[in-house]
Amino acid sequence: MAGARPNFMKIAPIWRASRMHPGVVCRIIHTGQHYDLEMSGAFFDDLDLPMPDFNLEAGSGSHAVQTAKIMTAFEEICQREMPDWVVVVGDVNSTLACSIVAKKLLIRVAHVEAGLRSFDTTMPEEINRMVTDSISDRFFVTEESGERNLLAEGKPVERIHVVGNVMIDNLLHQVGLLEQEDNGRFPTAALKRECTPFCFLTLHRPSNVDERDTFEGIAAALNEIAAEQPILFPVHPRTSKMMAQFDIRLSTRIHLLPPLGFRESLFLWKDADVVLTDSGGLQEETTAMHVPCVTIRENTERPVTVSMGSNILAGIRQDSIVEAYRSARQRGKSGTVPPYWDGKAAERIWDVLLKVH
Ligand code: UD1
Repeated sequence: MAGARPNFMKIAPIWRASRMHPGVVCRIIHTGQHYDLEMSGAFFDDLDLPMPDFNLEAGSGSHAVQTAKIMTAFEEICQREMPDWVVVVGDVNSTLACSIVAKKLLIRVAHVEAGLRSFDTTMPEEINRMVTDSISDRFFVTEESGERNLLAEGKPVERIHVVGNVMIDNLLHQVGLLEQEDNGRFPTAALKRECTPFCFLTLHRPSNVDERDTFEGIAAALNEIAAEQPILFPVHPRTSKMMAQFDIRLSTRIHLLPPLGFRESLFLWKDADVVLTDSGGLQEETTAMHVPCVTIRENTERPVTVSMGSNILAGIRQDSIVEAYRSARQRGKSGTVPPYWDGKAAERIWDVLLKVH
């Protein structure tokens, strides 16, 4: 199942790898947590993912409302289909909602990207991760910290599988597709040419954009960075709403773009001097491509991207963000790719699911 933008890239390789096992019937469920064409529909085309078998059309709402809508609709599907496994990915509200429903119907739950912890329970995703892992039957882990965290929480070692990272399976597949096609077709191709060298920015965490003081400090850092090089910034709907509400003024060298499809976004960030982000996935993807990354957060649940990869944890203060940006730019392409981030994680997941069936 998938619900929000970062889920679609994780289920695509899992679905593709299921095709290698003719006995497997795999149904795709979209909870509808994200529903705008540019946040959802466009991704299915871009990611080589067939349209979902079911769309629960849950939409937006408070956390409780959104989670409840997903649970109610998903319960009906589960009762009708009675699958052997429900495979949930990541840490969004849809992940939590579907794992609870499945488990209460005695359907086994496999959590892909299990064990990651920021140890910051003010993040909704941390609560989603902890609750999902507390009831999952199998844990598919992307990095060593995930295994360590699960063991520390008392999960049985035989249920934990370090398989690598499906996000990177998707990335490598998409890099291949991008190399084969005419990149001039992207609406941002001319802008990229004009702006090179440039930074690429994404920003959407509630802790960064929902608090006026924090958002103003981050905006001041971005304006300072923009004086050194232009920034390309696809803007998440939450962020646009908060920019308008707080009347955030950004430099004209920060180019505001609509949310982009996966491939167009990759086309831009792979050649950025520095990626500035608060996304989880981009920390991993930049690590896989050795692109310098500055994470605008106080913590990360993906520590391997800092210890081995190209990521610098900048914090959320104006001066620390600018300082991290300057070090990242100076350092240039760097880091090593963590074990098993080799494009074969989804195949390993199926090997386990079929063995324990
Ligand atoms: C969700 C995930 C977050 C993930 C992010 C990626 C949770 C708790 N958070 O956050 O982990 O990194 O997705 O985007 O699950 N909206 C639209 N169109 C849409 C979807 C949302 O305009 O298609 C707007 C609505 O105003 C909505 C707001 O964005 O209220 C927030 O959407 P929501 O799904 O609650 O959380 P995200 O911030 O997107």
